[in-house]
Amino acid sequence: MKVLLLNGSPRVNGNTMVALNEMVKVFAEEGVEAEIIQVGSRETRGCIACGACGKNGKCVFDDVVNEIAPKFEEADGIVVASPVYYASANATLIACLDRLFYSTSFDKRMKVGASVAVARRGGCSATFDELNKYFTISGMPVASSQYWNSVHGGAAGEALQDAEGLQTMKNLAKNMAFLMKSIALGKEKFGLPEREPHQWTNFIR
Ligand SMILES: Cc1cc2nc3c(=O)[nH]c(=O)nc-3n(C[C@H](O)[C@H](O)[C@H](O)COP(=O)(O)O)c2cc1C
Repeated sequence: MKVLLLNGSPRVNGNTMVALNEMVKVFAEEGVEAEIIQVGSRETRGCIACGACGKNGKCVFDDVVNEIAPKFEEADGIVVASPVYYASANATLIACLDRLFYSTSFDKRMKVGASVAVARRGGCSATFDELNKYFTISGMPVASSQYWNSVHGGAAGEALQDAEGLQTMKNLAKNMAFLMKSIALGKEKFGLPEREPHQWTNFIR
């Protein structure tokens, strides 16, 4: 059982990493293999809508997105964590997620998603909602915790003082591990739900 954790912060040892490390400790206890990828410090551009991924099966820009794609395909769950920038997710992370979700055609259904927002003070809920959208368009169940998944801290490391935030991370990881294990059993017993061919309508007549 594997989980991939994307860190949207450019600060390698910042507060987003504090939040993710709390989750990784729980994953280790639960026997879930975890890998953190620092996305926020990588050079990543946005999608140019060239459509090349539709033919090549991968993004035309061979960067962190194509590095993450096979790991995501293999993973049972993905955690997407971002520092809050102007009440929104970090732009580098969004560029990466747009291209990752758009350029990959493998079945993401029943991979468990969880998002985490880290801020000094405001914008966590908006960021949390923004990140969850990638999962809920992909047939991915979303793991939740005792509160909306947010951790507070300004200067790097300050999040270590946010006891409630860290507890939220612990419970999020516990719930996520439970969901991933339960879904693995469910897949064995029932298989994935049947899927109809996608109906594409760009407007309602
Ligand atoms: C460009 C920029 C914009 C920010 N905007 C917000 C904001 O809207 N709300 C907030 O509470 N903190 C904001 N912050 C503070 C960060 O969210 C906060 O320092 C967070 O802990 C950073 O996480 P990190 O240490 O993982 O990078 C901003 C920081 C930067 C650099």
